[in-house]
Amino acid sequence: MVKILAIETSCDETALALVEGNGERVILRTSVVRSQVDIHAVYGGVVPDIAAREHVELLMPMLRQAKAEGLLDGLDAVAVTAGPGLAPALRVGVGAAKGLAWSLGVPLVPVCHLEGHIYASWIRDDGYVPAFPILALIVSGGHTELVLMKGHGEFDRLGETLDDAAGEAFDKVAKMLELGYPGGPRVAALAEQGRKDAFAFPRAMEKSGDFLFSFSGVKTSVLYELRKLADAQGLTDGVRADIAASFQEAVVDILDKKTCAAIQRYRPASVVLAGGVAANVALRERLQESCAKLAVPFFMPEFRFSMDNAAMIAVAGYFRFLQGAGRDPKDVFVDPNLDIV
Ligand code: KG4
Ligand code: ZN
Repeated sequence: MVKILAIETSCDETALALVEGNGERVILRTSVVRSQVDIHAVYGGVVPDIAAREHVELLMPMLRQAKAEGLLDGLDAVAVTAGPGLAPALRVGVGAAKGLAWSLGVPLVPVCHLEGHIYASWIRDDGYVPAFPILALIVSGGHTELVLMKGHGEFDRLGETLDDAAGEAFDKVAKMLELGYPGGPRVAALAEQGRKDAFAFPRAMEKSGDFLFSFSGVKTSVLYELRKLADAQGLTDGVRADIAASFQEAVVDILDKKTCAAIQRYRPASVVLAGGVAANVALRERLQESCAKLAVPFFMPEFRFSMDNAAMIAVAGYFRFLQGAGRDPKDVFVDPNLDIV
């Protein structure tokens, strides 16, 4: 068994996890996530320097606890999110991981956060994992892309967003609806009480014939609609729920259509939904339905592994480690713009 400990501090979640792997099979031994959401909520978004300070506060006791529980014994490597993410936040995790790997005399594996999100679908009890080639839809707060993964560490980007990420659009619409931060889950909750066909928001790039996305148009349409309704004094709670539901429907629709088009074009052996927006129930259900219709196995992470966590980084680190990506800790650096391809 190969034993990997991972640290994740790319945004506002401080996380530590341990996995053991044997060939294609990985077993999660422990996963702790401490969210800083309440601290940043006051500012309406994540403040990088505050995130960094909190990571220090939260990570040190986690490491102390891991040591007390013997989790640092017999490690083969330490893995850490090197990017993409907020530079001050990433630096805390990478600094700690460097020190830890150095003191234990084991290699350090730098991991791309987006690659980690894909590997969240490997964490399951039944041992059934996605087969290659995989079509991955990555939808997070900073990214929206369709990626073809031909094997471990082999990625081709098919397309990405030209402007806002899907999660970012959810967060901005949440602000417009005065739902506060974090926005995605709040818009999704409000959408449950609304009618998804009440407003016809645009599905940008629907017929573009490629795998590019754009979410700034739908966001602006929501803004104009809200202004119009406010002027006419028609912004009731019911109408706000209708706006949330119709906006979510527009986003889910376009993500689903492009994913289906990519399935038909590339005929993957499996489809993986990844990133924070993978927690969106409407999106999960729609893609599950579409993949069933197209007869392609569909994988999505458990809810707790959709949002940022270190378990997914440990799994990605494990497969990278098998490929020889372990480095001397002094040679690992933060890269806030690190990309999957
Ligand atoms: O992956 P993640 O935790 O952080 C990044 O790597 O960016 O993704 C966070 C994003 C946020 O934009 C958040 O609003 C969105 O995921 N999100 C959701 C839901 N839960 C989280 N968006 C829609 N519906 C949800 N249920
Ligand atoms: Zn993330």
